Amino acid sequence: MAEPGNKLFQKVPSSRQEESFLETVVLPESNIAFFDHFVSIEIPNLVRESPTGGIFLDFGCGNGSMLSIICDSLRNHGLNKRLQIMGYDPNLPKIDEDSRVGRKKKIYEISYTDSLPERADIIVANFSLHHADSIKEELEKVANLGATFVTIAEYDFSKLRALPEDQAVEEFKRGFQASEAGLTDYEDFRRQAMRSGRSVDEAWRDCYLFHQKYSKEDFSQALESAGYSPMRIVLPSGRQDKYKFILTAKKK
Ligand SMILES: C[S@@+](CC[C@H](N)C(=O)[O-])C[C@H]1O[C@@H](n2cnc3c(N)ncnc32)[C@H](O)[C@@H]1O
Repeated sequence: MAEPGNKLFQKVPSSRQEESFLETVVLPESNIAFFDHFVSIEIPNLVRESPTGGIFLDFGCGNGSMLSIICDSLRNHGLNKRLQIMGYDPNLPKIDEDSRVGRKKKIYEISYTDSLPERADIIVANFSLHHADSIKEELEKVANLGATFVTIAEYDFSKLRALPEDQAVEEFKRGFQASEAGLTDYEDFRRQAMRSGRSVDEAWRDCYLFHQKYSKEDFSQALESAGYSPMRIVLPSGRQDKYKFILTAKKK
């Protein structure tokens, strides 16, 4: 696992495109750099930066598979003890109890909920916010919880909008098929298309249109309007993750 200061993680001055962000980190060309950075650097740093620890909320946790990996990382960094770990997902009732990873392993004290808690101190949203109809409204809900830090790991396929749609869908497919999470996400679109007698090509088009709604600038603006200042953005240079980013913001 890479550590802060590792020469792999090269800090660069903000480019013109990212000038609204305080700090831009470009990851090296590697298949695991994005995931590794998120779990073993960004999240532990966030907890260290948070003065009081408190409630750590995974916003849109799904079955908690990422949350249990985050818990492993926090424990490895000796940071788990000062935190109460919670997973929130509005679709939790649809997720089978047995597939809730943290609970199944019975290693972590993770509490799962399908309604938002009254407060949280650190909020992490890993590929969940693009599901929202309005990220502005969703981030206002986040702000109401009073968290000091918010970290968002997300897609930005907005550059593909400039291409003819067929080419954009093909490029989207290549990126999405390369990750297990992408394929799992696509499976919902495939099932929906099959149910309504539509083709696999149409399922990919629906999946593309759904995932290109928001750019990193949209997330940054929604954070700003919810009362957060974007602190740093992490951009992968690896081909596999080139449409992903991690954005961390602090309450103003
Ligand atoms: C691609 S999955 C990611 C799950 C998990 N964060 C992970 O990394 O494994 C997207 C998740 O977002 C959740 N979701 C959908 N709409 C949401 C919303 N408005 N607010 C929070 N989560 C939402 C879905 O139920 C789903 O579990």
